[in-house]
Amino acid sequence: MSEPMHKSQPIVIEETPGKKAYCQCGHSEKLPYCDGTHSRACPGVSPLVVEVADAGKKAVCQCHRSENLPWCDGSHSRS
Ligand code: FES
Repeated sequence: MSEPMHKSQPIVIEETPGKKAYCQCGHSEKLPYCDGTHSRACPGVSPLVVEVADAGKKAVCQCHRSENLPWCDGSHSRS
């Protein structure tokens, strides 16, 4: 079992509409999406599932300090 891994920069993607599961443990090999690794790496952590309404460029938070998860709000650049 591991601790959640947080990174200091968001992952910027071209997202498509639909239901998405964004990794919250940081151990996925398909970041920013959950690949199920959390079940063995961080059993207490679950992905954040959201319905994405619009296609377009999205910055997915990886520091997990955003107040607008799963999206980056710039918190990674503030101390
Ligand atoms: S693999 Fe990280 S939350 Fe599922």
